[in-house]
Amino acid sequence: MCGIVGYCGVKNTSEILLGGLRRLEYRGYDSSGIAVSGENSIIVVRRVGKLNNLTEAVAESSLATDNKASFGIGHTRWATHGEVSEENSHPHTDCTGKIAVVHNGIIENFSGLKDRLIANGHKFKSQTDSEVIAHLLEEAWNGDLNAAIHAVLPMLRGTYGIIAMHADAPGVLVGARCGSPLVLGIGDNEMFLASDPGALTRHAKKVVYLDDGEIVSITADGFNITDGKNRDIKKTADNIEFRNDDFEKGDFPHFMLKEIFEQPESIKRGTTGRLDLAASTGKLGGLNMTEDELRAIRRVVIVGAGTSYFAGCIGANFLESMAGVPARAELASEICYKNIIVEPDSMYFVVSQSGETADTLIALRELKRKGARVLGICNAVGSTIARETDGGVYIHSGPEIAVASTKAFTSQITAFAIFAAIMARLREMTSVQGDAFIKAFSAIPALIKETLELDSTIAKLAEKYCNYPNFIFLGRGICLPVAREGALKLKEISYIHAEGIGAGELKHGTISLISEAMPSMFLVPNDGLREKNISSMKEVKARKGRVIAICTAGDTEARDIADDVIEVPETLPILAPFLMIIPLQLFAYHSALKLGRDVDQPRNLAKSVTVE
Ligand code: M6R
Repeated sequence: MCGIVGYCGVKNTSEILLGGLRRLEYRGYDSSGIAVSGENSIIVVRRVGKLNNLTEAVAESSLATDNKASFGIGHTRWATHGEVSEENSHPHTDCTGKIAVVHNGIIENFSGLKDRLIANGHKFKSQTDSEVIAHLLEEAWNGDLNAAIHAVLPMLRGTYGIIAMHADAPGVLVGARCGSPLVLGIGDNEMFLASDPGALTRHAKKVVYLDDGEIVSITADGFNITDGKNRDIKKTADNIEFRNDDFEKGDFPHFMLKEIFEQPESIKRGTTGRLDLAASTGKLGGLNMTEDELRAIRRVVIVGAGTSYFAGCIGANFLESMAGVPARAELASEICYKNIIVEPDSMYFVVSQSGETADTLIALRELKRKGARVLGICNAVGSTIARETDGGVYIHSGPEIAVASTKAFTSQITAFAIFAAIMARLREMTSVQGDAFIKAFSAIPALIKETLELDSTIAKLAEKYCNYPNFIFLGRGICLPVAREGALKLKEISYIHAEGIGAGELKHGTISLISEAMPSMFLVPNDGLREKNISSMKEVKARKGRVIAICTAGDTEARDIADDVIEVPETLPILAPFLMIIPLQLFAYHSALKLGRDVDQPRNLAKSVTVE
């Protein structure tokens, strides 16, 4: 949460910073600000609200006409300490106004530090934890910004990605990382710092991922990385993998819709080179495990948050149904505080689109501390989780910008489907069964494309139902996590309350909510549980509830019972989640749109939740 960016170079500094913040806005969007060098001074512009407000303020400021800045820093905020206000927006300055700091993370001991600084005569302007860093730098300042940051960091407890500047250290920025991501971008006679490489793709040629405990100092033409004891660290620079198109909406009105429609392609990318048709199995080189090691696995535990957790639930179902390997998914926010029993013949996965989710990262570290071998299923290349795991799978869905996760979800379950096929073929699955699975799985992108043609039908359905304040989503077996994911999608962006439950659980309590005022969205694939789902639908209808059924094409019985029906193409029952989720994503999108919500940046949320 919160995005930070820094620039040293000869281009228009405020424009570069605003461009970088635009790419980072998904990390937090309740306020933003920049600080750029002036003549022996620092010019700070901050605004509450979306980045457009800051862009307008910069355009109306002296920076529009007289901008000689050659270095500066920027921040987009997701509030943790202190309300959303201009005073609490970053960058924060010291008492002299010559030091400016942007910070992502939480300084846990800020209160004690603040008391001491106030006792020393410092005047605070905000309620944030971050402002203490500016005042500590002021106390440590002896003409060398790098030395000052080295002196201050040992006093901080908590997590941080920091960038600092001083008016009297022209052309220099210092950055430090501990628990919050920070990358260095290398350009031609220009250097950048940012929370994620997406902010740098327009200008930087290479990136260096900083690790916890590292401190970097940059000028336009060089950089130096040290550890906390000021010892030089040599690191290799990586190529930037993103295309600029990934960060544009193209012909779509919202990133969410663009990302929903990208799914046939993003799934194909995630399977490229990973399906072995000759051996009727999958291939995942990044697991770094031999076939013998995979055969020895007796149990799989999958950890994730939000949508990634639901993808993990589906992954666990794939493993149990296809490979007969006991598997379960755990919520990252729960498992990290449990006494996790790590068993030697178990395999652990952490799943995260961003690769930066604090709960998942804590769970990963806890698992590793207890001796587990942990693999990652991540989208963001070079992210903290991707780098701290013992191997894993990049899902290659491309940057996901909308806060509501869509294409990452189907790419995550793609990775699990491939892994389950590998595990199954090393056990009981025959080559004939493997072949049938791989063929059906390879057809999924085309079937999703067909399902996406329902877009306008689903838009009408959303118009009909979007004013209902509550919804129940119901599914069984492998479609239960899909129902829960559909409910999460709806509430996250439309603010309609929605609950996802097992259809079999209806009679154990939730049925008392059923009335004309409560629509139920049933997932009814053509599988062994179809009859049971049909019975549950009838129970709801008998109580005057409204039923929407997402069923397989040609299911006349479901059509007769339900008030509204969305028919998706037939596939293997185990692959139903890939198709069932598409109408739910579109339903959430169109409901939010009809209600006038901010689809890509829903209230109170941020894309990557880097605080606990
Ligand atoms: O980046 P991650 O996959 O670790 O994020 C986990 C959740 O925060 C995320 O899936 C969240 O639930 C989404 N906004 C849901 O659409």
